[in-house]
Amino acid sequence: MNLWSARFSSEINPLVNDFNSSIHVDSRMYKQDIQGSIAHARMLGAQGIISKEDSEALIEGLHEILSQIEEGTLSFDEHDEDIHMAIEGLLTEKLGDVGKRLHTARSRNDQVALDLRMYSKERSQDVMRALKGLVTTLVKLAKEHGDTIMPAYTHLQKAQPISFAHHLLAYASMFIRDLERMDQACERMNVSPLGSGALATTTYPIDRNMVAEELGFNGITINSLDGVSDRDFAIEIANNIALIMMHLSRFSEEIILWCSSEFKYLKLDDAYATGSSIMPQKKNPDIAELVRGKSGRCFGNLISLLTMMKGLPLAYNKDMQEDKEALFDSFDTAELCLVIFDEMLASSDVQKDVMKKAAQSGFINATDCADYLVKKGLPFRDAYSIVGSLVKYLELHDKVFEELSLEEFQVFSPLFEQDVFSAIQLENCVENRKVMGGPAKSSVEKQIELIEEILDGYYD
Ligand code: ARG
Repeated sequence: MNLWSARFSSEINPLVNDFNSSIHVDSRMYKQDIQGSIAHARMLGAQGIISKEDSEALIEGLHEILSQIEEGTLSFDEHDEDIHMAIEGLLTEKLGDVGKRLHTARSRNDQVALDLRMYSKERSQDVMRALKGLVTTLVKLAKEHGDTIMPAYTHLQKAQPISFAHHLLAYASMFIRDLERMDQACERMNVSPLGSGALATTTYPIDRNMVAEELGFNGITINSLDGVSDRDFAIEIANNIALIMMHLSRFSEEIILWCSSEFKYLKLDDAYATGSSIMPQKKNPDIAELVRGKSGRCFGNLISLLTMMKGLPLAYNKDMQEDKEALFDSFDTAELCLVIFDEMLASSDVQKDVMKKAAQSGFINATDCADYLVKKGLPFRDAYSIVGSLVKYLELHDKVFEELSLEEFQVFSPLFEQDVFSAIQLENCVENRKVMGGPAKSSVEKQIELIEEILDGYYD
């Protein structure tokens, strides 16, 4: 029998009961639901809304239920509508009439809004921990690969030489932004909606701030209608996770390319690759492919949440019960992908020599060759055009800049002298780009310093 059956003259259709129920999804918020109820019961007692004895009995009963769930000696009835009804039911079973006093001055509408914020704060910390782990790995690898020369690409065409460290720090920069975004979202969601009631607060003299403080919130929501029907925080987190997954999918794509026999820049540890059921030679980068693929479901979760909220009139509507599945899936997917991607990267074998060899083709020092002429006094556009003709010549003769004689260089411009060979040497091309943000070792060290400084701020 349902809690509200007094108002109804017939029983609910079992199919409707199942359809309406969210216990299979929201039971994972049991801890937050109980903590919220404990704070609420304590406040009801302190404000004299219920007696001190009842308040204490409720708190004790809730603690017992929490321990029993955690020990695995108590499980939920699949016929319960949601976690809030289930816990209240268990409490009433335990305490009789006292249990029925818990829901005074409260609605499931502010209760679920509270639980979801608390759950989101906790899971955001898990995602942030995984992000910090990945950035730490990237910084560690960057420290080892300041001298590892590789080609950088535009349009997936070799462009200019950089170090592998520089490439890795581009991803570290993305994940640092993700970390900051998660933190900012947590800060914004850190206000308690409890006390908003069904939508218009309550006539009881509750103390919203007392509850908020006990639960670790920075304050309380401003408006009760918004308090119960705001899911911006869930959308913001889903958005931040979509960005994390987009970054991971770009990185995954590069790992997949680098593991191909066309690139061979990276060898994955056997523990992080899989074979083929038919082709004995295969070693596939399945993890990177799965991470790339799973970005899709996280983008989908964001769109689900936005679409679910679009056009909803104030205040609570049952549509909003759909928020949890999407948000929980985003949390689970992002955390798992970050952790496994981190391990895969940390255990992979960087093929320095292959990267260097790849940098020796594709005329990736052409810009440096043009810059050499500019330093000898030529306007950049003229230098650009001379080097363009040089590249045409090199292609025709199947050579690279380094293989030309000084005489051949001088056919294209009398400004070329012996020092051109040092100007186009790959190591020098990287080292001469000392501008902040660039690939020279001094700049890479500075980037590492900045990233470590931000990272340190997130470790307590
Ligand atoms: N299970 C519901 C949800 O997740 C809880 C709130 C229900 N409130 C209501 N008035 N039906 O949204």
